[in-house]
Amino acid sequence: MIKAVHVLNGPNLNLLGTREPSVYGHETLAMIEARLAKTCEAQGVSLHFRQSNHEGDLVSWIQDAGRAGEPVILNAGAYSHTSIALADAIKGSNARVIEVHLSNIHARERFRHHSHISSVAQGVILGFGAASYDLALQALLAATKPES
Ligand code: DQA
Repeated sequence: MIKAVHVLNGPNLNLLGTREPSVYGHETLAMIEARLAKTCEAQGVSLHFRQSNHEGDLVSWIQDAGRAGEPVILNAGAYSHTSIALADAIKGSNARVIEVHLSNIHARERFRHHSHISSVAQGVILGFGAASYDLALQALLAATKPES
């Protein structure tokens, strides 16, 4: 059983709710956090929910989670498409990561089609709006349930 989950959000995700709602929906990051917190509480799992517009913060948080052996749900925003540093942090710290995106990046501009995170992630969930986060959490919890 897992004790803690880290949900890490990259640049501009603090703007959710007002940022391009036709692409990202109307839910704020605080609303997503509140919903995940409920699910985690019901399962007795601690939630560390963070957002930063700075790549280095995300690198450090991934390293921390990897060192602690705690799984990560990562929406790296635009850094998904650019950041070798984030991919190296995942590989280097052995962090177990589920990559999420609200939008279907493959149905958008070409520069969003490639993610440096995908090849070092355990799995990828995208295109389900804010529910991408809930689905990622469910996947983590299901994968770590004791054998029934
Ligand atoms: C995003 C997709 C990225 O291309 C974009 O830069 C974001 C959000 C998503 O959740 O759909 O900031 O990661």
